[in-house]
Amino acid sequence: MELKTKAYFCHMANNEDLFKNIIAHAKEYGFVFQSSELYDGLSAVYDYGQNGAELKRNIREYWWKSMVQFNDNIVGIDSAIFMHPTVWKASGHVDAFNDPLIDNKDSKKRYRADVLVEDHIAKIEGKINKEVEKAAKRFGDAFDEKQFRETNPRVLENLAKIEDIRNRFFPALEAGDLEAVRQVIIDLEIVCPVSGSRNWTDVRQFNLMFSTNMGSLSEDSSVIYLRPETAQGIFVNYLNVQKTGRMKIPFGIAQVGKAFRNEIVARQFIFRMREFEQMEMQYFVRPGTEMQWYEHWKETRMKWHLSLGIPASKYRFHDHDKLAHYANAAADIEFDFSFGFKELEGIHSRTDFDLNRHQEFSGRKIQYFDPELNESYVPYVVETSIGLDRMFLAILSSSYKEEKLEDGSERVVMNLPAMLAPCKAAILPLMAKDGLPEKAREIMDFLKSDYMCQYEEKDSIGKRYRRHDAIGTPYCITVDHQTLEDNTVTIRDRDTMKQDRVNIDRLESIIREKLRS
Ligand code: GAP
Repeated sequence: MELKTKAYFCHMANNEDLFKNIIAHAKEYGFVFQSSELYDGLSAVYDYGQNGAELKRNIREYWWKSMVQFNDNIVGIDSAIFMHPTVWKASGHVDAFNDPLIDNKDSKKRYRADVLVEDHIAKIEGKINKEVEKAAKRFGDAFDEKQFRETNPRVLENLAKIEDIRNRFFPALEAGDLEAVRQVIIDLEIVCPVSGSRNWTDVRQFNLMFSTNMGSLSEDSSVIYLRPETAQGIFVNYLNVQKTGRMKIPFGIAQVGKAFRNEIVARQFIFRMREFEQMEMQYFVRPGTEMQWYEHWKETRMKWHLSLGIPASKYRFHDHDKLAHYANAAADIEFDFSFGFKELEGIHSRTDFDLNRHQEFSGRKIQYFDPELNESYVPYVVETSIGLDRMFLAILSSSYKEEKLEDGSERVVMNLPAMLAPCKAAILPLMAKDGLPEKAREIMDFLKSDYMCQYEEKDSIGKRYRRHDAIGTPYCITVDHQTLEDNTVTIRDRDTMKQDRVNIDRLESIIREKLRS
Protein backbone atom coordinates (compact mmCIF):
# COMPACT_ATOMS: atom_id res chain seq x y z
CA MET A 1 0.00 0.00 0.00
CA GLU A 2 1.58 3.26 -1.05
CA LEU A 3 0.50 6.39 0.74
CA LYS A 4 0.69 9.10 -1.92
CA THR A 5 1.13 11.95 0.47
CA LYS A 6 3.28 15.00 0.76
CA ALA A 7 4.18 15.71 4.34
CA TYR A 8 4.45 19.15 5.80
CA PHE A 9 5.37 20.20 9.28
CA CYS A 10 2.63 21.13 11.69
CA HIS A 11 3.13 24.44 13.42
CA MET A 12 3.37 23.72 17.11
CA ALA A 13 1.77 26.15 19.55
CA ASN A 14 5.18 27.09 20.90
CA ASN A 15 8.58 25.68 21.76
CA GLU A 16 7.57 24.85 25.30
CA ASP A 17 4.73 22.62 24.05
CA LEU A 18 7.07 21.07 21.53
CA PHE A 19 9.60 20.26 24.26
CA LYS A 20 6.86 18.72 26.43
CA ASN A 21 5.76 16.59 23.47
CA ILE A 22 9.33 15.41 22.89
CA ILE A 23 9.68 14.39 26.55
CA ALA A 24 6.34 12.53 26.45
CA HIS A 25 7.33 10.84 23.19
CA ALA A 26 10.70 9.79 24.66
CA LYS A 27 8.84 8.03 27.45
CA GLU A 28 6.02 6.54 25.37
CA TYR A 29 8.43 4.95 22.90
CA GLY A 30 11.02 3.59 25.32
CA PHE A 31 13.76 6.18 24.85
CA VAL A 32 14.06 7.85 28.28
CA PHE A 33 12.39 7.15 31.62
CA GLN A 34 12.63 9.04 34.88
CA SER A 35 14.93 7.09 37.20
CA SER A 36 13.09 5.11 39.94
CA GLU A 37 9.75 6.26 38.55
CA LEU A 38 8.05 3.53 40.57
CA TYR A 39 9.05 5.47 43.69
CA ASP A 40 8.05 8.86 42.22
CA GLY A 41 11.41 9.41 40.55
CA LEU A 42 14.80 10.77 41.44
CA SER A 43 15.35 14.33 40.36
CA ALA A 44 17.73 14.94 37.44
CA VAL A 45 18.52 11.24 37.04
CA TYR A 46 17.23 9.32 34.04
CA ASP A 47 17.21 5.80 32.63
CA TYR A 48 17.45 4.93 28.97
CA GLY A 49 14.87 2.45 27.72
CA GLN A 50 15.14 -0.16 25.00
CA ASN A 51 15.26 2.36 22.12
CA GLY A 52 17.14 5.05 24.03
CA ALA A 53 19.94 2.67 24.98
CA GLU A 54 20.41 1.76 21.30
CA LEU A 55 20.37 5.37 20.13
CA LYS A 56 22.83 6.33 22.85
CA ARG A 57 25.11 3.41 21.99
CA ASN A 58 25.06 4.43 18.30
CA ILE A 59 25.98 8.05 19.11
CA ARG A 60 28.78 6.83 21.38
CA GLU A 61 30.10 4.50 18.67
CA TYR A 62 29.92 7.19 16.00
CA TRP A 63 31.97 9.49 18.23
CA TRP A 64 34.47 6.73 19.12
CA LYS A 65 34.90 5.76 15.48
CA SER A 66 35.54 9.29 14.28
CA MET A 67 37.86 10.17 17.16
CA VAL A 68 39.76 6.91 17.81
CA GLN A 69 39.34 4.56 14.86
CA PHE A 70 39.82 7.22 12.16
CA ASN A 71 42.83 8.91 13.82
CA ASP A 72 45.89 6.74 14.14
CA ASN A 73 47.39 9.10 16.72
CA ILE A 74 44.39 8.97 19.09
CA VAL A 75 43.83 6.04 21.43
CA GLY A 76 40.98 5.31 23.80
CA ILE A 77 41.00 4.34 27.48
CA ASP A 78 38.46 3.43 30.13
CA SER A 79 39.51 4.71 33.53
CA ALA A 80 37.74 4.08 36.84
CA ILE A 81 35.09 6.39 38.24
CA PHE A 82 36.77 6.36 41.65
CA MET A 83 40.15 8.07 41.78
CA HIS A 84 42.61 8.99 44.48
CA PRO A 85 41.14 11.99 46.39
CA THR A 86 44.30 14.04 45.75
CA VAL A 87 43.46 14.00 42.02
CA TRP A 88 40.60 16.39 42.79
CA LYS A 89 42.78 18.58 44.99
CA ALA A 90 45.30 18.86 42.15
CA SER A 91 42.67 19.53 39.50
CA GLY A 92 41.16 22.34 41.58
CA HIS A 93 37.76 20.68 41.93
CA VAL A 94 37.87 20.39 45.74
CA ASP A 95 38.48 24.10 46.16
CA ALA A 96 36.77 25.66 43.20
CA PHE A 97 34.12 23.43 41.62
CA ASN A 98 31.33 25.40 43.22
CA ASP A 99 27.95 26.91 42.48
CA PRO A 100 26.78 30.03 44.35
CA LEU A 101 23.57 29.14 46.19
CA ILE A 102 20.92 31.21 47.88
CA ASP A 103 17.88 30.07 49.89
CA ASN A 104 14.49 31.69 50.20
CA LYS A 105 13.68 31.78 53.92
CA ASP A 106 9.91 31.51 53.37
CA SER A 107 9.68 28.68 50.84
CA LYS A 108 12.90 27.02 52.06
CA LYS A 109 13.73 26.54 48.37
CA ARG A 110 17.33 26.71 47.21
CA TYR A 111 18.44 28.41 43.99
CA ARG A 112 21.61 29.04 42.06
CA ALA A 113 22.26 32.76 42.34
CA ASP A 114 23.47 32.98 38.74
CA VAL A 115 20.36 31.18 37.47
CA LEU A 116 18.05 33.61 39.30
CA VAL A 117 19.85 36.48 37.60
CA GLU A 118 19.95 34.73 34.20
CA ASP A 119 16.18 34.10 34.46
CA HIS A 120 15.66 37.76 35.27
CA ILE A 121 17.68 38.71 32.18
CA ALA A 122 15.67 36.20 30.11
CA LYS A 123 12.47 38.00 31.20
CA ILE A 124 13.85 41.31 29.95
CA GLU A 125 14.87 39.62 26.70
CA GLY A 126 11.31 38.29 26.47
CA LYS A 127 10.03 41.88 26.66
CA ILE A 128 12.38 42.88 23.84
CA ASN A 129 11.20 39.98 21.70
CA LYS A 130 7.57 40.96 22.29
CA GLU A 131 8.32 44.51 21.10
CA VAL A 132 9.95 43.06 17.99
CA GLU A 133 7.03 40.71 17.32
CA LYS A 134 4.49 43.53 17.71
CA ALA A 135 6.45 45.77 15.35
CA ALA A 136 6.86 42.95 12.83
CA LYS A 137 3.09 42.53 12.74
CA ARG A 138 2.54 46.28 12.43
CA PHE A 139 5.01 46.86 9.60
CA GLY A 140 4.58 43.58 7.71
CA ASP A 141 7.00 42.97 4.84
CA ALA A 142 8.62 46.38 5.25
CA PHE A 143 9.89 45.45 8.73
CA ASP A 144 13.65 45.67 9.23
CA GLU A 145 14.31 43.78 12.47
CA LYS A 146 17.97 44.73 12.72
CA GLN A 147 17.24 48.42 12.37
CA PHE A 148 14.35 48.18 14.84
CA ARG A 149 16.53 46.49 17.45
CA GLU A 150 19.21 49.15 17.00
CA THR A 151 16.93 52.18 17.20
CA ASN A 152 13.72 51.50 19.14
CA PRO A 153 13.93 53.39 22.47
CA ARG A 154 12.19 50.67 24.55
CA VAL A 155 14.43 47.96 23.11
CA LEU A 156 17.51 50.08 23.74
CA GLU A 157 16.42 50.82 27.30
CA ASN A 158 15.98 47.11 28.03
CA LEU A 159 19.29 46.22 26.38
CA ALA A 160 21.00 48.80 28.59
CA LYS A 161 19.38 47.21 31.66
CA ILE A 162 20.75 43.79 30.65
CA GLU A 163 24.20 45.22 30.03
CA ASP A 164 24.12 46.91 33.42
CA ILE A 165 23.15 43.70 35.23
CA ARG A 166 25.83 41.69 33.48
CA ASN A 167 28.48 44.29 34.25
CA ARG A 168 27.63 44.18 37.94
CA PHE A 169 26.85 40.54 38.45
CA PHE A 170 29.48 38.56 36.58
CA PRO A 171 32.56 40.40 37.86
CA ALA A 172 31.20 39.96 41.41
CA LEU A 173 30.68 36.25 40.78
CA GLU A 174 34.11 35.85 39.28
CA ALA A 175 35.77 37.68 42.16
CA GLY A 176 33.91 35.45 44.64
CA ASP A 177 32.31 38.55 46.21
CA LEU A 178 29.20 36.76 47.50
CA GLU A 179 27.80 39.82 49.31
CA ALA A 180 27.85 41.78 46.03
CA VAL A 181 26.23 38.80 44.26
CA ARG A 182 23.41 38.84 46.82
CA GLN A 183 23.03 42.62 46.51
CA VAL A 184 22.33 42.32 42.78
CA ILE A 185 19.49 39.88 43.55
CA ILE A 186 18.09 42.28 46.16
CA ASP A 187 18.44 45.34 43.90
CA LEU A 188 16.72 43.60 40.99
CA GLU A 189 13.85 42.77 43.37
CA ILE A 190 13.95 39.13 42.31
CA VAL A 191 11.27 37.13 44.09
CA CYS A 192 11.17 33.42 44.91
CA PRO A 193 8.94 31.75 42.27
CA VAL A 194 7.37 29.60 45.03
CA SER A 195 6.78 31.96 47.98
CA GLY A 196 6.78 35.20 45.99
CA SER A 197 8.91 36.80 48.71
CA ARG A 198 12.28 38.55 48.66
CA ASN A 199 13.38 37.08 51.96
CA TRP A 200 16.79 35.75 50.90
CA THR A 201 19.63 34.20 52.89
CA ASP A 202 23.29 34.98 52.25
CA VAL A 203 24.90 33.45 49.16
CA ARG A 204 27.13 30.43 49.85
CA GLN A 205 29.44 28.38 47.69
CA PHE A 206 28.34 24.77 47.25
CA ASN A 207 30.70 22.10 45.92
CA LEU A 208 29.21 20.06 43.09
CA MET A 209 31.12 16.84 43.70
CA PHE A 210 29.37 13.82 45.19
CA SER A 211 31.40 12.10 47.86
CA THR A 212 31.29 8.69 49.44
CA ASN A 213 33.48 6.55 51.70
CA MET A 214 35.88 3.85 50.63
CA GLY A 215 36.73 0.95 52.91
CA SER A 216 34.43 -1.37 54.81
CA LEU A 217 35.22 -0.12 58.33
CA SER A 218 34.24 3.43 59.07
CA GLU A 219 37.49 4.16 60.98
CA ASP A 220 39.50 3.01 57.93
CA SER A 221 37.41 4.80 55.42
CA SER A 222 38.42 7.88 53.58
CA VAL A 223 36.29 10.29 51.60
CA ILE A 224 36.47 9.79 47.90
CA TYR A 225 34.59 11.51 45.09
CA LEU A 226 32.53 10.35 42.16
CA ARG A 227 34.39 11.93 39.25
CA PRO A 228 32.79 15.16 37.99
CA GLU A 229 34.59 14.85 34.61
CA THR A 230 36.30 12.01 32.78
CA ALA A 231 39.24 14.22 31.76
CA GLN A 232 41.24 13.68 34.95
CA GLY A 233 41.31 9.92 34.29
CA ILE A 234 43.10 10.79 31.06
CA PHE A 235 45.59 13.21 32.66
CA VAL A 236 46.66 10.77 35.36
CA ASN A 237 47.16 8.06 32.73
CA TYR A 238 49.10 10.31 30.36
CA LEU A 239 52.48 8.74 31.16
CA ASN A 240 51.15 5.16 31.12
CA VAL A 241 49.60 5.57 27.68
CA GLN A 242 52.42 7.62 26.18
CA LYS A 243 55.03 5.09 27.27
CA THR A 244 53.17 1.81 26.60
CA GLY A 245 51.72 3.08 23.32
CA ARG A 246 55.03 4.76 22.32
CA MET A 247 52.93 7.78 21.40
CA LYS A 248 54.60 10.75 19.70
CA ILE A 249 53.36 14.26 20.21
CA PRO A 250 50.91 15.42 18.95
CA PHE A 251 48.64 12.60 20.10
CA GLY A 252 45.29 12.20 21.78
CA ILE A 253 43.68 10.09 24.50
CA ALA A 254 39.92 9.67 24.36
CA GLN A 255 37.43 8.24 26.77
CA VAL A 256 33.70 7.88 27.25
CA GLY A 257 32.25 7.43 30.69
CA LYS A 258 30.00 8.51 33.49
CA ALA A 259 30.46 11.75 35.38
CA PHE A 260 28.52 13.00 38.40
CA ARG A 261 27.63 16.49 39.55
CA ASN A 262 25.31 17.51 42.34
CA GLU A 263 23.52 20.03 40.14
CA ILE A 264 21.20 22.28 42.10
CA VAL A 265 19.22 23.55 39.17
CA ALA A 266 18.06 20.35 37.60
CA ARG A 267 15.64 20.98 34.79
CA GLN A 268 15.21 20.75 31.05
CA PHE A 269 14.99 16.98 31.05
CA ILE A 270 18.32 15.29 30.21
CA PHE A 271 20.06 18.60 29.48
CA ARG A 272 21.36 18.96 33.03
CA MET A 273 21.65 15.73 34.97
CA ARG A 274 23.28 14.60 38.17
CA GLU A 275 24.61 11.43 36.57
CA PHE A 276 25.59 11.78 32.93
CA GLU A 277 28.05 10.57 30.36
CA GLN A 278 30.88 12.50 28.76
CA MET A 279 32.89 11.86 25.59
CA GLU A 280 36.20 13.62 26.04
CA MET A 281 39.50 13.77 24.21
CA GLN A 282 42.72 15.37 25.43
CA TYR A 283 45.14 16.21 22.63
CA PHE A 284 48.73 16.60 23.85
CA VAL A 285 50.77 19.08 21.83
CA ARG A 286 54.09 20.90 21.78
CA PRO A 287 53.90 24.19 23.76
CA GLY A 288 53.43 27.09 21.37
CA THR A 289 51.43 25.04 18.85
CA GLU A 290 48.28 24.86 20.96
CA MET A 291 46.38 27.65 19.18
CA GLN A 292 46.82 25.95 15.85
CA TRP A 293 45.45 22.68 17.31
CA TYR A 294 42.67 24.52 19.11
CA GLU A 295 41.48 25.94 15.76
CA HIS A 296 41.89 22.52 14.17
CA TRP A 297 39.69 20.81 16.78
CA LYS A 298 37.08 23.55 16.72
CA GLU A 299 36.68 23.03 12.99
CA THR A 300 36.89 19.22 13.16
CA ARG A 301 34.29 18.93 15.87
CA MET A 302 31.87 21.26 14.08
CA LYS A 303 32.29 19.13 10.93
CA TRP A 304 31.46 16.04 12.99
CA HIS A 305 28.18 17.59 14.08
CA LEU A 306 27.30 18.70 10.57
CA SER A 307 28.10 15.23 9.18
CA LEU A 308 24.94 14.00 10.91
CA GLY A 309 22.83 16.02 8.49
CA ILE A 310 21.34 18.37 11.07
CA PRO A 311 21.01 21.88 9.54
CA ALA A 312 24.01 24.14 10.17
CA SER A 313 21.62 26.84 11.43
CA LYS A 314 21.08 24.70 14.55
CA TYR A 315 24.70 25.14 15.60
CA ARG A 316 26.86 28.10 16.52
CA PHE A 317 30.16 28.79 18.24
CA HIS A 318 30.31 30.78 21.41
CA ASP A 319 33.85 31.98 22.08
CA HIS A 320 34.49 32.61 25.78
CA ASP A 321 35.57 36.18 26.61
CA LYS A 322 36.33 35.33 30.18
CA LEU A 323 38.64 32.36 30.51
CA ALA A 324 39.16 29.92 33.36
CA HIS A 325 42.54 30.42 35.02
CA TYR A 326 44.02 27.34 33.29
CA ALA A 327 42.81 28.11 29.75
CA ASN A 328 44.21 30.38 27.08
CA ALA A 329 41.29 29.86 24.68
CA ALA A 330 37.86 28.28 25.01
CA ALA A 331 34.72 27.95 22.89
CA ASP A 332 31.42 26.15 23.12
CA ILE A 333 29.57 24.54 20.27
CA GLU A 334 26.02 25.58 21.07
CA PHE A 335 22.91 23.83 19.82
CA ASP A 336 19.50 25.35 19.25
CA PHE A 337 17.47 23.26 21.73
CA SER A 338 13.74 24.01 22.03
CA PHE A 339 14.66 26.24 24.98
CA GLY A 340 17.27 28.27 23.09
CA PHE A 341 20.93 28.00 22.07
CA LYS A 342 22.82 26.16 24.83
CA GLU A 343 26.21 24.54 25.28
CA LEU A 344 26.55 21.12 23.71
CA GLU A 345 30.30 20.72 23.54
CA GLY A 346 33.33 22.58 24.86
CA ILE A 347 36.70 22.98 23.13
CA HIS A 348 39.34 24.24 25.52
CA SER A 349 43.01 25.02 25.22
CA ARG A 350 44.00 24.02 28.77
CA THR A 351 47.73 24.84 28.56
CA ASP A 352 49.95 22.63 30.76
CA PHE A 353 47.85 23.39 33.85
CA ASP A 354 46.54 19.90 34.63
CA LEU A 355 49.73 17.94 33.97
CA ASN A 356 51.74 20.52 35.93
CA ARG A 357 49.40 20.26 38.89
CA HIS A 358 49.57 16.45 38.87
CA GLN A 359 53.34 16.73 38.68
CA GLU A 360 53.30 19.02 41.68
CA PHE A 361 50.83 16.99 43.80
CA SER A 362 52.22 13.53 42.96
CA GLY A 363 55.88 14.50 43.10
CA ARG A 364 56.41 12.57 39.83
CA LYS A 365 57.86 14.00 36.66
CA ILE A 366 55.27 14.17 33.87
CA GLN A 367 57.21 15.19 30.81
CA TYR A 368 57.70 14.33 27.19
CA PHE A 369 61.08 14.05 25.52
CA ASP A 370 60.73 15.59 22.08
CA PRO A 371 63.34 13.96 19.81
CA GLU A 372 62.95 16.65 17.15
CA LEU A 373 63.74 19.46 19.60
CA ASN A 374 66.00 17.28 21.70
CA GLU A 375 64.35 18.61 24.88
CA SER A 376 61.80 17.64 27.49
CA TYR A 377 58.68 19.60 28.36
CA VAL A 378 55.23 19.30 29.93
CA PRO A 379 52.86 19.01 26.95
CA TYR A 380 50.06 21.49 26.38
CA VAL A 381 46.54 20.14 26.03
CA VAL A 382 43.62 20.90 23.75
CA GLU A 383 40.43 19.27 25.00
CA THR A 384 37.18 18.40 23.25
CA SER A 385 34.39 17.56 25.68
CA ILE A 386 30.82 16.67 24.76
CA GLY A 387 27.98 15.37 26.89
CA LEU A 388 26.56 12.17 25.41
CA ASP A 389 23.16 12.81 26.96
CA ARG A 390 23.10 16.35 25.60
CA MET A 391 23.98 15.03 22.16
CA PHE A 392 21.16 12.52 22.56
CA LEU A 393 18.78 15.39 23.35
CA ALA A 394 20.03 17.39 20.37
CA ILE A 395 19.44 14.42 18.05
CA LEU A 396 16.08 13.62 19.62
CA SER A 397 14.75 17.16 19.40
CA SER A 398 16.00 17.85 15.89
CA SER A 399 14.58 14.54 14.59
CA TYR A 400 11.14 14.75 16.18
CA LYS A 401 8.50 15.84 13.66
CA GLU A 402 4.74 16.08 13.89
CA GLU A 403 3.45 15.82 10.36
CA LYS A 404 0.04 16.32 8.81
CA LEU A 405 -0.30 14.23 5.69
CA GLU A 406 -2.17 15.10 2.53
CA ASP A 407 -4.83 12.50 3.24
CA GLY A 408 -5.66 14.36 6.47
CA SER A 409 -4.04 11.84 8.80
CA GLU A 410 -1.20 12.72 11.13
CA ARG A 411 1.97 11.00 12.12
CA VAL A 412 4.91 11.53 14.47
CA VAL A 413 8.16 10.61 12.81
CA MET A 414 11.73 10.67 14.02
CA ASN A 415 13.96 11.57 11.06
CA LEU A 416 16.98 10.12 12.84
CA PRO A 417 20.20 9.82 10.85
CA ALA A 418 19.88 6.20 9.66
CA MET A 419 23.14 5.07 11.23
CA LEU A 420 21.93 6.28 14.66
CA ALA A 421 18.45 4.73 14.49
CA PRO A 422 17.81 2.17 17.26
CA CYS A 423 16.29 -0.24 14.74
CA LYS A 424 17.49 -0.27 11.13
CA ALA A 425 14.71 -2.39 9.67
CA ALA A 426 11.36 -3.74 10.83
CA ILE A 427 10.38 -7.09 9.35
CA LEU A 428 6.61 -7.30 9.11
CA PRO A 429 4.55 -10.23 7.82
CA LEU A 430 1.36 -8.77 6.34
CA MET A 431 -0.63 -11.43 8.20
CA ALA A 432 0.25 -13.84 10.98
CA LYS A 433 -0.65 -16.88 8.87
CA ASP A 434 -0.19 -18.65 5.51
CA GLY A 435 3.56 -19.12 6.04
CA LEU A 436 4.24 -15.34 6.06
CA PRO A 437 5.67 -15.26 9.64
CA GLU A 438 8.10 -18.07 8.80
CA LYS A 439 9.33 -16.25 5.69
CA ALA A 440 9.65 -12.99 7.68
CA ARG A 441 11.65 -14.80 10.38
CA GLU A 442 14.00 -16.11 7.69
CA ILE A 443 14.69 -12.53 6.53
CA MET A 444 15.09 -11.41 10.13
CA ASP A 445 17.65 -14.16 10.80
CA PHE A 446 19.55 -13.20 7.67
CA LEU A 447 19.74 -9.45 8.52
CA LYS A 448 20.09 -9.48 12.30
CA SER A 449 23.75 -10.47 12.44
CA ASP A 450 24.65 -7.13 10.79
CA TYR A 451 21.80 -4.83 11.74
CA MET A 452 19.47 -4.22 14.68
CA CYS A 453 16.12 -5.39 13.33
CA GLN A 454 12.71 -5.95 14.88
CA TYR A 455 10.12 -8.54 13.96
CA GLU A 456 6.48 -7.56 14.49
CA GLU A 457 3.26 -9.28 13.55
CA LYS A 458 0.69 -7.64 15.87
CA ASP A 459 -1.77 -4.95 14.68
CA SER A 460 -2.57 -3.68 11.22
CA ILE A 461 0.32 -2.94 8.89
CA GLY A 462 -0.52 0.79 9.05
CA LYS A 463 -0.22 0.83 12.84
CA ARG A 464 3.08 -1.02 12.66
CA TYR A 465 4.41 1.53 10.14
CA ARG A 466 3.42 4.38 12.49
CA ARG A 467 5.10 2.71 15.44
CA HIS A 468 8.33 2.42 13.50
CA ASP A 469 8.06 6.00 12.19
CA ALA A 470 7.82 7.03 15.84
CA ILE A 471 11.09 5.34 16.79
CA GLY A 472 12.85 6.39 13.60
CA THR A 473 13.25 3.02 11.84
CA PRO A 474 14.55 3.87 8.35
CA TYR A 475 12.97 0.84 6.63
CA CYS A 476 9.88 -1.33 7.05
CA ILE A 477 10.07 -4.59 5.10
CA THR A 478 6.72 -6.23 4.47
CA VAL A 479 6.32 -9.89 3.62
CA ASP A 480 3.10 -10.68 1.71
CA HIS A 481 1.68 -13.53 -0.35
CA GLN A 482 3.62 -12.45 -3.43
CA THR A 483 6.82 -12.93 -1.42
CA LEU A 484 6.15 -16.66 -1.29
CA GLU A 485 5.75 -16.73 -5.07
CA ASP A 486 8.64 -14.59 -6.32
CA ASN A 487 10.95 -13.89 -3.33
CA THR A 488 10.16 -10.15 -3.36
CA VAL A 489 9.09 -7.89 -0.49
CA THR A 490 8.01 -4.28 -0.20
CA ILE A 491 10.47 -1.91 1.44
CA ARG A 492 9.04 1.32 2.79
CA ASP A 493 11.16 4.40 3.33
CA ARG A 494 10.43 6.18 6.63
CA ASP A 495 10.88 9.72 5.29
CA THR A 496 9.16 9.54 1.91
CA MET A 497 6.75 6.73 2.93
CA LYS A 498 7.34 5.41 -0.58
CA GLN A 499 7.29 1.67 -1.07
CA ASP A 500 9.32 -0.31 -3.58
CA ARG A 501 9.06 -3.96 -4.44
CA VAL A 502 12.52 -5.54 -4.34
CA ASN A 503 14.06 -8.98 -4.33
CA ILE A 504 15.03 -10.24 -0.87
CA ASP A 505 18.61 -10.63 -2.10
CA ARG A 506 18.89 -6.84 -2.42
CA LEU A 507 17.79 -5.98 1.12
CA GLU A 508 21.21 -6.15 2.72
CA SER A 509 22.83 -3.83 0.17
CA ILE A 510 19.92 -1.35 0.32
CA ILE A 511 20.29 -1.04 4.11
CA ARG A 512 24.09 -0.84 3.86
CA GLU A 513 23.83 2.02 1.31
CA LYS A 514 21.37 3.90 3.50
CA LEU A 515 23.65 3.69 6.53
CA ARG A 516 26.54 5.05 4.51
CA SER A 517 24.68 8.07 3.12
N1 GAP B 1 36.45 18.32 31.05
C1 GAP B 1 35.78 19.52 30.73
C2 GAP B 1 34.41 19.57 31.21
O1 GAP B 1 33.95 18.70 31.93
P1 GAP B 1 32.22 21.00 31.06
O2 GAP B 1 31.89 22.19 30.18
O3 GAP B 1 31.97 21.13 32.51
O4 GAP B 1 33.74 20.66 30.75
C3 GAP B 1 31.62 19.28 29.19
O5 GAP B 1 31.43 19.74 30.51
C4 GAP B 1 30.31 18.84 28.58
O6 GAP B 1 29.67 17.89 29.44
C5 GAP B 1 29.28 19.96 28.42
O7 GAP B 1 29.49 20.65 27.20
C6 GAP B 1 27.98 19.19 28.43
O8 GAP B 1 27.70 18.67 27.14
C7 GAP B 1 28.26 18.03 29.36
N2 GAP B 1 27.71 18.29 30.70
C8 GAP B 1 28.25 19.03 31.69
N3 GAP B 1 27.46 19.02 32.78
C9 GAP B 1 26.39 18.26 32.48
C10 GAP B 1 25.22 17.86 33.20
N4 GAP B 1 25.00 18.22 34.44
N5 GAP B 1 24.31 17.07 32.56
C11 GAP B 1 24.53 16.66 31.28
N6 GAP B 1 25.61 17.00 30.57
C12 GAP B 1 26.53 17.79 31.14
